[in-house]
Amino acid sequence: MTRARIVGIGAYAPKRILTNKELEKMVDTSDEWIVQRTGIRERHIVEEGEGPADLAIRAAQQAMERAQVTPEEIDFIVVGTTAGDMHFPTTANLVQHRLGCRNAGSVDVYAACSGSVYSLSIGAQYVQNRKYRTVLCIGAECLSRITDFTDRGTCILLADAAGAAVLRPATDDNGIIDTDLYSDGRYGELLIQPAGGSLRPASHETVDQRQHFAKMKGNEVFKVAVRMFGECAERILKNNGFTAADLDLFVPHQANLRIIEAAVKRLKMPMDRVMVNVERYGNTGAASVYVALEEAWATGRVKPGDLLLLAAFGGGFTWGAALLRW
Ligand code: ACO
Repeated sequence: MTRARIVGIGAYAPKRILTNKELEKMVDTSDEWIVQRTGIRERHIVEEGEGPADLAIRAAQQAMERAQVTPEEIDFIVVGTTAGDMHFPTTANLVQHRLGCRNAGSVDVYAACSGSVYSLSIGAQYVQNRKYRTVLCIGAECLSRITDFTDRGTCILLADAAGAAVLRPATDDNGIIDTDLYSDGRYGELLIQPAGGSLRPASHETVDQRQHFAKMKGNEVFKVAVRMFGECAERILKNNGFTAADLDLFVPHQANLRIIEAAVKRLKMPMDRVMVNVERYGNTGAASVYVALEEAWATGRVKPGDLLLLAAFGGGFTWGAALLRW
């Protein structure tokens, strides 16, 4: 089987930075509490009038430039997002049009914060099966738009960014070795945006009840997330004949430093082989793994032939992992 390989990676975060100190003025919280419980110090927030597609386009342009791929060469675009620009057209469609990818099909994948590994996995299947030669995988979020800035349990976490990867068939053994995707709807109520879909469309009541914002039972999400993260990481390694000791870098979803540390402890890995940038970005949902991977690559932490594990979890619940050789 031909492997799909990441031939270009890009990331973009809005200019505006929201610090913990600023959040102290908005809700009953403190910089010390946020840093201690989450590891987050600051996050990027979009400007009025910007949406996920605006961020996605910047990340995609960087990835395509690095891959030396033209818009016409893109065969397919898959965008992981929690709350796209609109229900339709999809964010992927907006990106397709605005980038000038006139030969590309496009689709959004709604898997909340797992949208990174979900989009990468779906894109990889097309390349592996030789259906498409060049696939653009993106994670793009404006989570601040579905954040209740009066709810201290969520507003300290969620943030905005986009990341992108261009996939092409590998010419050697490097590339995406395996991906696993999981879901369990039993946990749906733990992390939910109750209104705004067809079941509960916008009404004065849903707006008054703040039902268009993300609601989270953080403590319960935390416990399930740690277990899922560890289990899926261990399984994909084992299924492919590796152990955590073989990994050069683990790039987890950047939700909370304590979740990352707990998962890493379970894998018995040293933290110096784990990519962490949650302190500067917060939880950027489907963008987070791409953004962390781009930073790892740009700062020289990823070298050709390195074995990398990517893993994410999110609302739904959804979770998954990707194992690859760079
Ligand atoms: N500042 C100060 N105090 C706070 C804050 C805050 N921002 N938020 C909660 N507290 C208080 C609580 O009210 C509670 O007070 P009490 O004991 O008087 O009742 C106390 O702190 C402890 O609350 P917990 O919820 O138990 O705190 P915890 O240590 O679990 O941290 C947090 C909360 C940060 C939300 C954590 O549970 C977490 O990160 N959970 C996972 C969230 C996550 O990753 N979600 C994203 C999933 S991915 C996706 O799809 C979006």
